[in-house]
Amino acid sequence: MGRAERAGGRQEAGRLSDILDGQPTDASVLAEIYDLEHEAIDEDLPFYREMAHRFPGPAIDLGCGSGRLFGPLLAGGGGPIVGIDGSPSLLERAAARIAADARLNAARADGWIELAVGDVRHVRRTERFALAILAGVIAHLDGPEEALRSLVSARRLLARDGVLVVDTLGPGALPERDLPLSLDWEHAEGDRRFVRRSRLERRETPEGLRVRYATLTDVVRSDGTIARLPASFRLWYPSPTALVALAAEAELAVESVFGSHDLDPLDDDSERCIVVVRPTRADPGKG
Ligand SMILES: C[S@@+](CC[C@H](N)C(=O)[O-])C[C@H]1O[C@@H](n2cnc3c(N)ncnc32)[C@H](O)[C@@H]1O
Repeated sequence: MGRAERAGGRQEAGRLSDILDGQPTDASVLAEIYDLEHEAIDEDLPFYREMAHRFPGPAIDLGCGSGRLFGPLLAGGGGPIVGIDGSPSLLERAAARIAADARLNAARADGWIELAVGDVRHVRRTERFALAILAGVIAHLDGPEEALRSLVSARRLLARDGVLVVDTLGPGALPERDLPLSLDWEHAEGDRRFVRRSRLERRETPEGLRVRYATLTDVVRSDGTIARLPASFRLWYPSPTALVALAAEAELAVESVFGSHDLDPLDDDSERCIVVVRPTRADPGKG
């Protein structure tokens, strides 16, 4: 049995798929902070809208977080849309996002958007998808074995002509040295101010860059009280070559590789590494 086949098996006991579980800070508060921070990221939205336009039909957003991509996917012609995430707290934020947006809300009421708690390393669905997305998720999987599991799982979800988009940081965006604890983000929301400090330790390994990322977020209220909320994450960034090799191992052929959401070619300075892949063979029961 090859590594790709073993990777399709059940997940061994180990790290949970909820990245906010087991943190010293309440998961729903971390999810709120995550949302405030990620809300500002919109440079990739036209890209996902265009992908949904090019590959219309059922779409699955694997590791959807708070559902940032649902609007563009829907606007591009994607649907029905399934959002899978390991974090119930982030899925609650996704549900809130949908409820606050008339178009998304109508789509969900029509059964056109579904949210489900799940682990991207072994998602099982009966339907097949024209578009599957792993955006910002590979970094949270603890290295090549887990990434391979998620790629095999995603391949099995694809329709015959479906594609998977794997979107992660490019070589030009990776930290070149450790960063001491320093201020990296501030945001005011109502009567609260969020001030986040973070520290980063990097380690080059044969399989890619490993990063320990520790954050300390102060929630400062107008009455002067401060809640200090720690969290830490283990991240992993494969090189583009390693990612393409894993895709091949998962029986996925590369259709295109981009170094940005504007479709620039990938090079050593690229901020993103976006790999679009297709299954190299039909899986049984495929649509
Ligand atoms: C950086 S966020 C990206 C969220 C979303 N894709 C976006 O682009 O806004 C990474 C997401 O992956 C999810 N995640 C990490 N590991 C997972 C796993 N094994 N199974 C399911 N979700 C996972 C996290 O909960 C988080 O929502």
